[in-house]
Amino acid sequence: MKSFHIITFGCQMNEHDSERMAGMLEAEGLSEAASAEDAEVIILNTCSIREKAEQKFFSELGRLTHLKSREGKSVRIAVAGCLAQQEGAKILSRAHQVDMIIGPSDIARLPEIFAERERRSTAVIETGGDPEYHHKLVPTRRTDGLKAWVSIMYGCDNFCTYCVVPYLRGRERSRPASDIVREVKDLAARGYREVTLLGQNVNSYGRHVSDGCTFPELLRQIHDVDGIERIRFVTSHPRDLSGELIAAMRDLNKVCEALHLPAQSGSDRILAAMNRRYTAAEYLDKVRRLREAVPDIVLTTDIIVGFPGEERQDFEQTLNLLRAVGYDTLFAFKYSRRPGTAALRLGDHVPEPEKERRLEELFSLQRPVTLAKNQAHVGQTLEILVDGKSKRGVSLSGRTRGNKVVNFPGSSDRIGSLARVRITAAGPNSLTGEICE
Ligand code: SAH
Ligand code: SF4
Ligand code: F3S
Repeated sequence: MKSFHIITFGCQMNEHDSERMAGMLEAEGLSEAASAEDAEVIILNTCSIREKAEQKFFSELGRLTHLKSREGKSVRIAVAGCLAQQEGAKILSRAHQVDMIIGPSDIARLPEIFAERERRSTAVIETGGDPEYHHKLVPTRRTDGLKAWVSIMYGCDNFCTYCVVPYLRGRERSRPASDIVREVKDLAARGYREVTLLGQNVNSYGRHVSDGCTFPELLRQIHDVDGIERIRFVTSHPRDLSGELIAAMRDLNKVCEALHLPAQSGSDRILAAMNRRYTAAEYLDKVRRLREAVPDIVLTTDIIVGFPGEERQDFEQTLNLLRAVGYDTLFAFKYSRRPGTAALRLGDHVPEPEKERRLEELFSLQRPVTLAKNQAHVGQTLEILVDGKSKRGVSLSGRTRGNKVVNFPGSSDRIGSLARVRITAAGPNSLTGEICE
């Protein structure tokens, strides 16, 4: 039997695409190999969000192409995902050993693309995008048996000026609610307890579907699925975070008290240049309303430092936003120029060392806040979905509804169930506790 190995470079959506490609290959009779060295089919599922992701891919590709020339073994290399879409045939000029280039909206045709490659002697390039992609149900091989990602929409129409995603994943398309609910019911029947709904901008779900289902309505339908205990979703665009969604988060008890709400900047000038279409004050007002409705909500965010035109005073406003919100965790990135984006023409004038300094300043401000937020859980008894052995091997681990990792002693027959755990200690990255019987 032929074997395959997939290396994933990107976000949760990219990871979920890898699960789908694995599912399709298994349905074709292939088996998964533990490493690229052992596989006859190697897929690199790429990301282009920042230049670093691109560099990482090309160095990995360079490392893998030597596998093609091994004697007695025929190896196929496919490059899939966002960078495949961006670069297309150009990838071949850097690595002629590549056999297939497959865009993110073309992966449902993976088996046909593989068959096509066997029929000819040259590489197959499929980046046209399948207009029916959002209706397609493909076999998916999920790595986790308890928590599942479920795509609810593809693409993005927001065109934030720094971002390549709308160019690579295409226009926003929502999956029909009936397909999504069917998938969630099937997951529940197979023992899954948690679903994370995926989309670049989940709050605008349904804008283009004929059944008129909105995101809060979709949440209600998924909430009704027996067996599913927890519902999460990423990502929410602050502008589209509606009162109706806040009310749904308050009223639907399976919807977890956690929200990733990328702010990107605290400066109105920079937010406008980013085309984010909200001000810092509007953002803070949404946070206030969220906390009124869901008092113990865990909030996380993304920040970009060094966007073109970001002066010290703009950056100060970002620091102020962080102070005003008090996030549980922060993801922050140095601005990276991406091909085809509108921000390209603005230049990139913040010097690299200054970007580094701003990044470090953000993390220095955030570090004690994260620790304090974690320590505030000490003494509380929290509901934990036990998902496995902790990395230390001696105890169990799981996540709170706020999505924080908790390690605690216990026997492995608890894996897969909900437990009540009293938190006894907290560090910067995880909590420690003991099961309450
Ligand atoms: N759709 C999501 C996630 C997009 S990508 C959203 O709107 O939040 C994840 C994060 O990468 C973004 O939130 C942003 O902070 C960061 N990012 C995107 N493009 C970038 C770029 N060109 N340079 C640096 N960071 C970037
Ligand atoms: Fe990119 Fe903005 Fe769309 Fe997120 S919302 S994927 S940052 S364009
Ligand atoms: Fe995700 Fe990277 Fe594409 S973040 S959408 S895999 S560019």
